[in-house]
Amino acid sequence: MNKRTIVTLPGDGIGRAVLDAALQVLDAAGFEANYVHADIGWEFWKHEGNPLPQRTIDLLKEYKTGLFGAITSKPKDAAAAELDSKLNGRGLIYSSPIVKLRQLFNLDICIRPCKTYKGNPLNFIRRGTHNQIEEPEINVVIFRQNTEGLYSGVEWSDPPDTILQAFQTHPKFMANYRDVPKSDLSISTRIFTKNATRRILHAAFSHARQYGYRSVTVCEKPNVIRETSGMMYKMAMEMQKEEFPEIELWNTNIDAQIMWLTKNPENYGVIVAGNMFGDIVSDGFAGLIGGLGFACSANLGKDVAVFEPTHGSAPKYADYPVSIVNPIAMITSSVMMLEHLGETVIAGRISEAISKVIEEGKVRTYDMLKMTGNPDVIKQGAASTEEMTRAIIEKL
Ligand code: NAI
Ligand code: MG
Repeated sequence: MNKRTIVTLPGDGIGRAVLDAALQVLDAAGFEANYVHADIGWEFWKHEGNPLPQRTIDLLKEYKTGLFGAITSKPKDAAAAELDSKLNGRGLIYSSPIVKLRQLFNLDICIRPCKTYKGNPLNFIRRGTHNQIEEPEINVVIFRQNTEGLYSGVEWSDPPDTILQAFQTHPKFMANYRDVPKSDLSISTRIFTKNATRRILHAAFSHARQYGYRSVTVCEKPNVIRETSGMMYKMAMEMQKEEFPEIELWNTNIDAQIMWLTKNPENYGVIVAGNMFGDIVSDGFAGLIGGLGFACSANLGKDVAVFEPTHGSAPKYADYPVSIVNPIAMITSSVMMLEHLGETVIAGRISEAISKVIEEGKVRTYDMLKMTGNPDVIKQGAASTEEMTRAIIEKL
């Protein structure tokens, strides 16, 4: 059989260390693939004026599957200040390469599972009715629409006249903003399309069916954001009735859902939301199962798929002589890649190895020991990225 080719995109900061860890684990677990390196991130912004070079886009077009570490992003002005002086004056404006990647390949379905590992000292605990300590077992999969909504970048400060005129046709705009000078207006739009909404809903319901989840929860705010959230909930009701009658459809508002995070997170199964609310609710659930060291994700399009931990490049830990960060989020992201590629046996073995290491509790990175990250944590008993990786490999 021809070996698969995976595009590896380490990016910046700790991206390389965690990606190396994942590749070691994939290798040890017997996953056979060719890996091609692709450039992405801050270095390529600084030296080429483009954090997502065309050659990287071409590699993803050709090979379809990407394993991505993390990148560093900085605000517009800071980005301009770090641009190589030979590139000045070309009107280059920094924008996040991961957001661009999602839009370019229409990676519209983002999946973020948050599952409790037994024995993880970072698991959320609370008091029960008889004052006992409860450690709810969380098994939630968040489906976040990844390309539209508030993050799609259709926005203006001091909007052009044509835009302003369009808004002025809306009675609520006139009621609230009639007398605001144009230069005092900033507008960010929240656009949902039926096509993308249908795709994320369908992916969520299908996942619930395939993996035996009882419910799909639409987590939006349809009582207030009537058009976009309202459309998503209405389409979910129709889809549930017509195609997924055995799955319960629940409806929560994003604000209430954040409150329920600590009250009854174990009750939820699949959650589906638009771009920003999906981002928020997935970080919320990630906090209950150990935080950024554990939060993995998949970005799926029709053609291309990119797998990445949800954490960033953690620049303050990037140049440590021995890397201290937790590689588990990156390794579980690569497990999602294996599942996507149909390599379920290898995926299962790696997941089990991770569970065993966490449950045994002998090898823990600094975050699992609730330490503040610094180079001395290794002396104080924390496992390095490499030691955690080796511990997982030993359990395979
Ligand atoms: P971050 O996720 O890089 O780090 C936040 C904190 O979380 C770190 O200081 C560290 O304490 C902890 N942390 C992160 N990953 C960890 C790991 N694997 N193990 C243990 N602890 C870990 O987010 P921050 O500091 O807000 O952003 C740093 C840079 O990363 C920024 O330039 C930001 O734009 C970028 N970023 C990139 C993302 C991506 O590539 N998808 C996502 C989020 C941020
Ligand atoms: Mg986020």
